[in-house]
Amino acid sequence: MNQLLRAYKNVSPIVFESAWESPSNIAFVKYWGKKGHQIPANPSLSMSLKECCTKTKTIFSPSNELQVNLKLEGDTNPKFAQKIRNYLASLESELPWIMNLNVSIETSNTFPHGAGIASSASGLSAFALTFADYLKALNPNDDHSLFFKRASHLARLASGSACRSVFGGFSTWGASDLPEATDLYASPLEVHPDLRFLHDTVLVVNGTEKNISSTDGHGRMSDHFFAEARFSQAKVHFTICVQALKAGDIESVGKILESEALSLHAMMLTSPSAYTLLKPNTLLAIEAIWRFRRETKLPLYFTLDAGPNLHLIYPGHEKKQIELFIHHTLSPMCEKILYDVTGDGPKPC
Ligand code: PMV
Repeated sequence: MNQLLRAYKNVSPIVFESAWESPSNIAFVKYWGKKGHQIPANPSLSMSLKECCTKTKTIFSPSNELQVNLKLEGDTNPKFAQKIRNYLASLESELPWIMNLNVSIETSNTFPHGAGIASSASGLSAFALTFADYLKALNPNDDHSLFFKRASHLARLASGSACRSVFGGFSTWGASDLPEATDLYASPLEVHPDLRFLHDTVLVVNGTEKNISSTDGHGRMSDHFFAEARFSQAKVHFTICVQALKAGDIESVGKILESEALSLHAMMLTSPSAYTLLKPNTLLAIEAIWRFRRETKLPLYFTLDAGPNLHLIYPGHEKKQIELFIHHTLSPMCEKILYDVTGDGPKPC
């Protein structure tokens, strides 16, 4: 059994309420492909955002059976409630009392739906933090210095990328040469002061819901012709990106960012059942960014999540000229623009 949950196996449910606000994150080195139940095929690295967060209040109480009610933005949402129920039921062997729990969740996002921001990362990390809080209340004598590791572990079991949102700044997840590295939960990564705060401006090229989920995308890596090459590439990118972030080398970070975005989407295009989430304007914007960089030498880079919307990453000191370019050249290519920066991580609310 996982040691992070061992002390909670034989406790009894009580009534308890917890509320947390947790950010979304944007991966610099992507997690795409699994090698077991929520175990990543390669290490990943991300930056937590400041403005794009989910606020979640959860009330736990004893019950005859496991029941979950969930309200998203004030509306009952049976689909998400069922997802959380399945997730909690999957923890039964480690926490048997979970089957005698009533869980009532109220959740809302600080960012618009369909904005290219991963609400699963913020939403499931916020829920995991309320659940970690509940565990703490059930066994107050346990070692609570592990609180964030435990929350990250719980978040990972719900959605891989969510485990990285439990920390502010930059965090890594997955086996690597870093001392803290593990596949079980994420760890914070100290970076050079010059890169501690970066901008993430999201160009919402297309806000409609994607028809291929990330779960489906991860699955398509299992028989992908290029899978092993991709996992090796990600491991090399991870090492370079960590070194460059620590050295304050934005140019090397930017190179990795863009290569990771394009590799992620190349995996979709070259998978046995090929698909793409890119839109014509995604490519037009990429070409315009490359042109701008060639002409101005300014440190503006892009990355992509599993969707068509571009995340523009740049340091604050060149903000003025870069944001003029975004406004004049890139904004006609997108539906809306969201401005965010590196955040400090989740907080109780
Ligand atoms: O956490 P999931 O299963 O939704 O997968 C996320 C995958 C990407 O967002 C594309 C990459 C990442 O590392 O966040």
